[in-house]
Amino acid sequence: MRHSRRVALAALLGSALTLAIGTGAHAEDKKITLGFAQVGAESAWRTANTVSVKSAAADAGINLKFSDAQQKQENQIKAIRSYIAQKVDVIAFSPVVESGWEPVLIEAKNAKIPVILTDRNIDVKDKSLYVTMIGSDFLEEGRRAGKWLEERYKNEPGPINIAELQGTVGSAPANDRRAGLLEVIKNDPKFKVIASQSGDFTLAGGKQVMEAFVKTYGKKINVVYAHNDDMALGAIQAMEEAGWKPGKDVSVVSFDATKGGFQAMVAGKINVDVECSPLLGPQLMTAVKDIVAGKQLPKRIVTEETVFPMSVAAEVLPTRKY
Ligand code: AHR
Repeated sequence: MRHSRRVALAALLGSALTLAIGTGAHAEDKKITLGFAQVGAESAWRTANTVSVKSAAADAGINLKFSDAQQKQENQIKAIRSYIAQKVDVIAFSPVVESGWEPVLIEAKNAKIPVILTDRNIDVKDKSLYVTMIGSDFLEEGRRAGKWLEERYKNEPGPINIAELQGTVGSAPANDRRAGLLEVIKNDPKFKVIASQSGDFTLAGGKQVMEAFVKTYGKKINVVYAHNDDMALGAIQAMEEAGWKPGKDVSVVSFDATKGGFQAMVAGKINVDVECSPLLGPQLMTAVKDIVAGKQLPKRIVTEETVFPMSVAAEVLPTRKY
């Protein structure tokens, strides 16, 4: 009797040990894998965004697979397909443009891999193709810039001619920053967008487009409306090479509020910078963990942002994180 009890106890302990070891190994296997398809490395904003995503993944203990699409949608689609083939737990991407995502997102859905959009939105009818979208409200950013212009020129009769340096054609920030501006100025005929061209969110692109604007429109331009800081900095170079004083002869409106943008404000060359935060990594990793844990997420998580006029730049610059 005593012997059989001992045997039973040993068997019980043995199976408990097996269970414990088994659970430990399982927990190890269960490290979440996230496939992230980045737009590229076109701007200081993007570099800060990549750093944020990589460091937040490391902090959260998430296994990150990262790809850089070099601003090409076909590269992003390839990366997403490879994440599907690798059976990652979650896919996240910052879509280079708004349209053309249905086929690959249907493939992800069929493979039961949840998708998170970060930074840029997409244009799809079936919203079940992604779980949530985390990022800025670009339309609101455009409105904020438009309201700043209204206030700045409220006592001037006009015309106020705007030269627009657009971001990547078809991208959410380029579409919405333009739409937000037009929405605000549409009832005030003194504002006119006289030129509009894409500089693809790069410094070189902004400079090249501005050189052409300087040649074609000359001093008719009152405002340069650049969809990001890199293009604004390129445009400033072009204007200075033409002997202009950006920030004085011409108002320069920009987006992102990077350190580079702030330094240009301190130097008096950018008049206002509408904030767009790239520091999305921590929110993204929380969302990834919540999805894997089966929690419900809001369809849209909007980043909180503000507007920085040149007058506050020197005071705020030391606190900027990107
Ligand atoms: O999608 C965010 C935009 O993309 C930023 O404004 C720009 O700098 C970046 O390249």
